Amino acid sequence: MLPAGLWRRRIFTASGSRSHENPLGLPSNNTRSLPQIPRRGPISRGLPPKRKIPNVKRVVLVSSCKGGVGKSTIATNLAVSLSLLPQRLRVGILDLDVFGPSIPTLMGLKNVEEPGLTRDGALIPITNHSIPTMSMAYLLPPASQSSSSPSTNPDSEPPTNEDTPVVWRGLMVQKAVQQLLFQTDWSAGVSQGASSGLDILVVDLPPGTGDIPLSVGQLVDVDSTIIITTPDALSLSDVRRGVSMFRKLEVPLTGLVINNGYFICPNCTERHYLFGGNPNDSENMFTKGVKAMGMDGDRIIGELPLVVDVGRGGEKGIPYALSGRGKGDNDPGKVWLAAMTSVAERIWGEIQFNTN
Ligand SMILES: Nc1ncnc2c1ncn2[C@@H]1O[C@H](COP(=O)(O)OP(=O)(O)OP(=O)(O)O)[C@@H](O)[C@H]1O
Ligand SMILES: [Mg+2]
Repeated sequence: MLPAGLWRRRIFTASGSRSHENPLGLPSNNTRSLPQIPRRGPISRGLPPKRKIPNVKRVVLVSSCKGGVGKSTIATNLAVSLSLLPQRLRVGILDLDVFGPSIPTLMGLKNVEEPGLTRDGALIPITNHSIPTMSMAYLLPPASQSSSSPSTNPDSEPPTNEDTPVVWRGLMVQKAVQQLLFQTDWSAGVSQGASSGLDILVVDLPPGTGDIPLSVGQLVDVDSTIIITTPDALSLSDVRRGVSMFRKLEVPLTGLVINNGYFICPNCTERHYLFGGNPNDSENMFTKGVKAMGMDGDRIIGELPLVVDVGRGGEKGIPYALSGRGKGDNDPGKVWLAAMTSVAERIWGEIQFNTN
């Protein structure tokens, strides 16, 4: 192993002379040395045509441009809400957040057995709450305990795959994503009409506009995409990037869902707009920004309040859309449930409209 000083010297003096302003020699104004990003036209130009996911009629992407805004919570609750619509849709969830999968936790499927395989070698989804799911997390081995220092604590829990990190570079990730997308048999594990597969597959994407959302947009015939965001002006630039990516990929964008838009005080039942997203405020920079993006206000398809029990439901593995009740009309849980159902109806309506 090289001594630390030598490493540092290697990094900083690896090739030729470096200017004081740019000690690492990163390319700056010299556009010839930068990777060429296509400026015009769809990103999918020149790629093979987008494909349908086997045994899936419609695909809905749940994306966000920032991490931690409630995407997975909404993906699970959206799946449940869609399945509870009068149309009795068969809905599944695909967790494509390869580096931070949380669908197993949110669906009460932590540490389940590895999924089985069909005769053709396709993955068989794992079902809970009548919703079949597939996630990278199901395929990870338990984190190995260090053999050199076995735990002597009798109370220590056995190793689980929750602690197993995915440490892969791009190509491996691409391969895994393609397998999860096209080699999961969604007709297996669906109780009603077992041979016909799913009406809707809800896909939970990782945050941002990286490799995985890009690949999905390029490879899959998508029917609807929603972008989850908080209603603060700072999130706007992230939202703009997401909208722009999906437009370039020619992926249908149903709209934005504002999460944690407000908090309903249990004592005074007043709505408190924690991030300044009050729709009645003429200085509401978020709504102004969304309009400036060429999306009319109508493209904000739902605004969900912050509700403590929604978070708790997720922790317990029981989506709030399944168990939540709410008491009076102004009960935060009831307001949240109504907003979630309305998002599900809007997505289903839009899919139907685009199909006919
Ligand atoms: N409306 C809500 N009310 C209360 N808590 C919420 C709400 N939405 C999400 N949460 C909580 O916020 C946290 C982040 O949510 P979640 O994991 O769904 O975000 P995410 O966008 O999927 O994150 P990541 O980018 O890491 O995948 C969780 O603890 C979740 O329970
Ligand atoms: Mg998530």
